[in-house]
Amino acid sequence: MLDFARDTAQESATTPALITVRDLSLWYGQKQALKNINFDLRPNEILAFIGPSGCGKSTALKCLNRMHDGVRGVHIKGDIRFDGKEIHDGDLDPPVFRRHFGWVAQKPNPFPWSIYENVAYGARLHGLAIGRAALNDHVEDCLRRALLWDEVKDDLHRKTGLDLSGGQQQRLCIARALSTMPDVLLMDEPTGSIDPVATGHIEELMLELGRAHALVVVTHSMMQARRVANRVAHFHLGELIELGTTKKVFTNPSDARTKDFVSGAVG
Ligand SMILES: Nc1ncnc2c1ncn2[C@@H]1O[C@H](COP(=O)(O)OP(=O)(O)O)[C@@H](O)[C@H]1O
Ligand SMILES: [Mg+2]
Repeated sequence: MLDFARDTAQESATTPALITVRDLSLWYGQKQALKNINFDLRPNEILAFIGPSGCGKSTALKCLNRMHDGVRGVHIKGDIRFDGKEIHDGDLDPPVFRRHFGWVAQKPNPFPWSIYENVAYGARLHGLAIGRAALNDHVEDCLRRALLWDEVKDDLHRKTGLDLSGGQQQRLCIARALSTMPDVLLMDEPTGSIDPVATGHIEELMLELGRAHALVVVTHSMMQARRVANRVAHFHLGELIELGTTKKVFTNPSDARTKDFVSGAVG
């Protein structure tokens, strides 16, 4: 039996939420992909999104850092607050806002540049580490935090991101995501295209990152959700039908559909 190591007393946590989502609905043209979604994201928690394919997990994730901006046909209704501020407010500066988020995609997508440049780019863009020495330190710090430094420290300028293995590429993408010093890491099936050993490294890394960041992780793997998440949100046909601590969702779900899904009866 798994011990739900991350399932702490956080369900009753009184810490103010970092993000609150209220009555969020989204349409792609005529098709409604999200229906009145509600959830909070707390600082330093790992929230997993689970549910069958096509139920709105990626769509919901992309709402949090306004990744649907400018996409034709997308219509969003509802209220999303980051640090208390509505993220669609006219006076919010999108590039400044997005710096608070790191994005990790399913398929590792490093830039075809040196390992160093992959990580330095975001920091330089946002003026976060001024001067060569500070930037070197920052790149090292991000690569260490992504548990990749020891494997690449001699090749920072000699190898590109594409010269690395799939699992290393994904850790490089996480180092790149860390380079803007985000509060929140959004991961859309981050282990969906890498092997089990590499997946183990990424899960270890998620647990480590959860100490200093809030993470939202979309996963197809029930085992992964059990291993890494504090809380789990179950999506079903565009609705968020159950949200609770990992232990509650997996051992005593309130919704019969969640019970079927986590037991493998459907999905
Ligand atoms: N860009 C898009 N245009 C139109 N429909 C989309 C688009 N992206 C996703 N959808 C639809 O919205 C629904 C939710 O998709 P998605 O959020 O990707 O689900 P999940 O991540 O849970 O697999 C699906 O029916 C999908 O076909
Ligand atoms: Mg998806």
